[in-house]
Amino acid sequence: MSEKDHKVSRRQFLTYTLTGVGGFMAAGMIMPMARFALDPALKAGAESDLIEVCDVAELTEEPQKFSFTFNQVDAWYESDVTHDAYIYLSGDEVVALSPTCTHLGCTVTYGHEEHPDGFRCPCHFGLFSKDGINVPGTPPQRPLDVFEVTVEDGKVFLGQINQRT
Ligand code: FES
Repeated sequence: MSEKDHKVSRRQFLTYTLTGVGGFMAAGMIMPMARFALDPALKAGAESDLIEVCDVAELTEEPQKFSFTFNQVDAWYESDVTHDAYIYLSGDEVVALSPTCTHLGCTVTYGHEEHPDGFRCPCHFGLFSKDGINVPGTPPQRPLDVFEVTVEDGKVFLGQINQRT
């Protein structure tokens, strides 16, 4: 081959350069999004970690709010996250409800003067019974979510949160 055959035209040079730079930039944008989307799937079992929240002896038949903090690693960011749960005794069973309203995600409270034996949401006045079942005719269309509960040595541990229908 002659030296002339190896010459790259200006058009080819621009095509190669722009393709390379464009590919590099696209990879830079797509990789973090893919990592973010797949992150929970890459951490199998991470959501099933149990967190100690309180002693069984502290519980009554009336839901009480407990806060608990756990370490969360989200892609490259690690932080301490605090969540709440309403926990109570139903016979021998320990029940833990999420305080997040299933309508649009506001935080419900238990024992409001307008709904003393249940949960009330301040945003659109959604109501739930003590066991977290949504009251028909109010905005929420499904019950409050429940935590998986494990009791060991008199301590209450909360695990994954589950939806009810
Ligand atoms: S967010 Fe709770 S009723 Fe709308």
